[in-house]
Amino acid sequence: MAINWYPGHMHKAKKEIREEIPKMDLIIEVLDARLPFSSENPMVPSLRGDTPCIKILNKSDLADPAITQQWVEHINNTSGMKAIAVNLKQPDKIRSILDMAPSMVPDRNLDVSQLKALILGIPNVGKSTTINILANRTVARTGNEPAVTKQQQRIKLPNNIILLDTPGFLWPKLEPEDCGLRLAISGAIKNTVIEFEDVAMYLAEFMLEHYPENLSKRYQIKDLPQTGIELFDMIGQRRGCMRRGGIADTHKVSEILINEFRDGQLGRITLETPAMVEQEQALLAETRARKAAKK
Ligand code: G4P
Repeated sequence: MAINWYPGHMHKAKKEIREEIPKMDLIIEVLDARLPFSSENPMVPSLRGDTPCIKILNKSDLADPAITQQWVEHINNTSGMKAIAVNLKQPDKIRSILDMAPSMVPDRNLDVSQLKALILGIPNVGKSTTINILANRTVARTGNEPAVTKQQQRIKLPNNIILLDTPGFLWPKLEPEDCGLRLAISGAIKNTVIEFEDVAMYLAEFMLEHYPENLSKRYQIKDLPQTGIELFDMIGQRRGCMRRGGIADTHKVSEILINEFRDGQLGRITLETPAMVEQEQALLAETRARKAAKK
């Protein structure tokens, strides 16, 4: 999938985060509950060392609850990590992070010193919404756009916690390709830099395999087809987006599918499970090993 990327900005962000992590007591990462692995900052596992980490699985209202539970358990089984699934309609649950944070740094006496936490999150994941709820006020946004990168900012929170917010621009997990496609479906990558139809086709095929009942219900299709292309035609017919010759207008159908996924109109859907990700990672490692052996 073609994503036009910005290597210069990626390097700057990497450098900033590499410099800040060693100074932090805690990392708080806001993830998209529909894609907790793909929405993770790929630098965190290698740079965090022993620094404890809270993973916020945000937008849980849009994700498949059973799979969210799998992810919470999976993350909680990782040393030094805690997960919490939340959404913007649960401000009290979000605020419980203010008590969870000190419990992860038990040696720190917050009566005499501050707890420094770095907050990370890819664009559109809900990082600003989360910060505003934690701070109980509207905090100015840190820029997400590569071209308007704003300064880091320090935000004072209750319980003597200082939050360091960094610009949230994204460097994606480009391998396996599925990660990039899932990020694109979620809206983390601007529509203008992705191949919209490829992304929608990936979603169509994923839905046919994992959430067929949701498709039947949403588009009133009793007998679902085998392929994404056929599904595009059926959705096109039902939504009146056909070209001459009885072929679906793929761009319009792509917009319908992706927008309805993002709005939650296709139901509560999660694009990856811990088991799927493990399998993909094993495959990726195998491919890399094969390539290395050929050199
Ligand atoms: P960011 O700082 O990480 O870029 O994200 P931000 O908080 O601005 O949130 C991005 C979008 O995601 C916003 O929608 C926000 O309302 C929505 N959002 C945040 N948390 C949740 C959640 O838990 N569930 C759902 N369903 N949506 C959430 P928007 O349409 O861009 O803005 P707005 O019209 O809501 O202001």
